[in-house]
Amino acid sequence: MVYRSVFVKFFIAFCLVAKATQNEDVSAELRPSPRIVNGQKAAVGQFPYQVSVRINDQHICGGALVAQNFVLTAAHCVYNIDDDVLGVQAGTVGRTNSGDFRAVSTVIIHPQYGFDNDIALLELKTPFFYSDVIKPIGIASWDVPAGESVVISGWGRIYEGGPLADQLLYTRSLTTLNNEECAKADGTLNPSILCLNSPQSRGFCEGDDGGPAVYKNILIGIASYITKGCGSIAKGGFTNVSYYKNWIQAIIHG
Ligand SMILES: *[C@@H]1O[C@H](CO)[C@@H](O)[C@H](O)[C@H]1NC(C)=O
Repeated sequence: MVYRSVFVKFFIAFCLVAKATQNEDVSAELRPSPRIVNGQKAAVGQFPYQVSVRINDQHICGGALVAQNFVLTAAHCVYNIDDDVLGVQAGTVGRTNSGDFRAVSTVIIHPQYGFDNDIALLELKTPFFYSDVIKPIGIASWDVPAGESVVISGWGRIYEGGPLADQLLYTRSLTTLNNEECAKADGTLNPSILCLNSPQSRGFCEGDDGGPAVYKNILIGIASYITKGCGSIAKGGFTNVSYYKNWIQAIIHG
């Protein structure tokens, strides 16, 4: 059981990165329901903490600005990737190069990253300047009650196998679950995983991973893994950011 879920998670994380780096125009077929999945277009400055994590200036994953020179993302997005080719873009709702770009100086993967602990910090070569469209987000240090609506955003595929979004999309249709419901969903009580309930035809897709899940303007999760196709009914999938708050702050303020 444990082996299986670990394998599935690893495989999915691998596919997310592999798929997000493929030629985005090769969509097998057109399907009617676009996703974040089924997201709405973000306005300029609506998600000033949202960044695009890039390899050779091509979008691969989302991330969240947590300090002028630090971006939080998923470890699987940047694991085994050369610092030299990595960068981030902020201050724009466009996916192609239209915002402020910063090269990454250091990738800090969580030391216990294997299958769990899917979290990494990117230190930037030069800090961002804050503005109306570039602002950091605070990290939760409290538990969110069950049944609350959470906002996720990203430039990921708009449906399973579809193209990446050109403009930042978001949805508020994911909701929090209590820990017991979460345990029922995938077998074990794991405080490092944040369970969010994705209804049918909502949720994140390849290229949204690494991106922020936000409640009342505070970062609570990082999109980590998808158990079925994008837009399937799902529980789980996010790294519980408050579980890692000490690790994050030690690095940022260190
Ligand atoms: C997330 O981590 C915090 C801090 O360790 C913990 O109190 C909380 O219960 C965790 N959330 C979930 C959904 O497991």
